[in-house]
Amino acid sequence: MLVDVHTHVYLPRYASWLRSRSIAPRILVNEAGEERLLILENETSAGRPVGPSYWDRNAKLNFMDQHGIDISVVSFANPWLDFLSPPDAESLARDLNTDLEEYCATSPCLPSSSLNRLYGLGLLPLVPGISISSVLQAVSQIAKAPHLRGLIMGTKGLGKGLDDDALDPVWKAIEEKGLVVFLHPHYGVDSSAWGDKENGHVLPLALGFPFETTTAITRFILSGAFDRFPSLRVLLAHSGGTLPQLSSRLASCIDHDPIVASRLKHDARFYLGKLWFDAVAYGPEELAFVSEIVSRAGRYESGNSNTKTLADRKEGSKRMLFGTDHPFFPPLSSSEKWKSVVENLEAIDSVAGWGEDEREGVRAENALTFFDIQ
Ligand code: URA
Ligand code: ZN
Repeated sequence: MLVDVHTHVYLPRYASWLRSRSIAPRILVNEAGEERLLILENETSAGRPVGPSYWDRNAKLNFMDQHGIDISVVSFANPWLDFLSPPDAESLARDLNTDLEEYCATSPCLPSSSLNRLYGLGLLPLVPGISISSVLQAVSQIAKAPHLRGLIMGTKGLGKGLDDDALDPVWKAIEEKGLVVFLHPHYGVDSSAWGDKENGHVLPLALGFPFETTTAITRFILSGAFDRFPSLRVLLAHSGGTLPQLSSRLASCIDHDPIVASRLKHDARFYLGKLWFDAVAYGPEELAFVSEIVSRAGRYESGNSNTKTLADRKEGSKRMLFGTDHPFFPPLSSSEKWKSVVENLEAIDSVAGWGEDEREGVRAENALTFFDIQ
């Protein structure tokens, strides 16, 4: 069995909205009559090719069939509603969450099973100036939708990031309703870091995206949010960006900063054990590393002094979930299997120290439990 937890859609209503815009984010028609997607900062007017794989459910199902994916947990793609006014964000969130529930509910079931092939992650109208009650209404709407299991969120929150105290009622509601938060980047980091050479989208996507996720979740952790909302379930895109690699450095910096240290109940490394990580890392060594770091987290619970023995990768693998990032990173020819998918599957299959139980967990079982798909 294979479950994809990182797979996006621009539903037709959202694509229409992008087509109606004259500034980015937008979909435009170029001189050759082809539609192009323009969403990233400093993207040239050439944009990226965009087509049915972004909005057509049959294209999603065909992609799933082509790669042996049984179930997908589909989320809206960046930049969500970030660019809208509060009234537009509120009404589009309501309509898109309704659309996504229908997209999933009317999808085919798995053969000889009552499970649908599509489940979804809705979105919240998180824009500056929105009332918290509007955001809470969207949380309630998602919680009531039978096929929506959580929501996807960018890193801006209400404009001040995810350590904004104003978000506390939102985290509380999400935690109480048992919804998953899928934290996903869009903005990268200041593009002046990328220099003048023409490197296409490589630097913002390969580095900027994971750096953005790292900063956002680190600020969230430093705000003490996991101490206030210990049952909140957050899934990090792209295997947690660089947080696993930097977590001991983070812990050390906190130790040397009494104001922050006194705010947190635990060593920073403990909080990595509160998180889930997609397995969109493209290499077995990276998956091994993340699982080892996550395995280690429990040792950093306050009062636990067992920090010396080496961590076992198996425990951490239970918090890792297969993903594709479809429809992004397509191959040049439409008939072949997507390299981005094949690489991630091969990586799962060849992590040293994982047995068949761990591989099956990451391919499907962890996701079925995490999203309560049964
Ligand atoms: N590019 C994007 O804009 N979003 C993704 O999720 C992946 C690539
Ligand atoms: Zn993505």
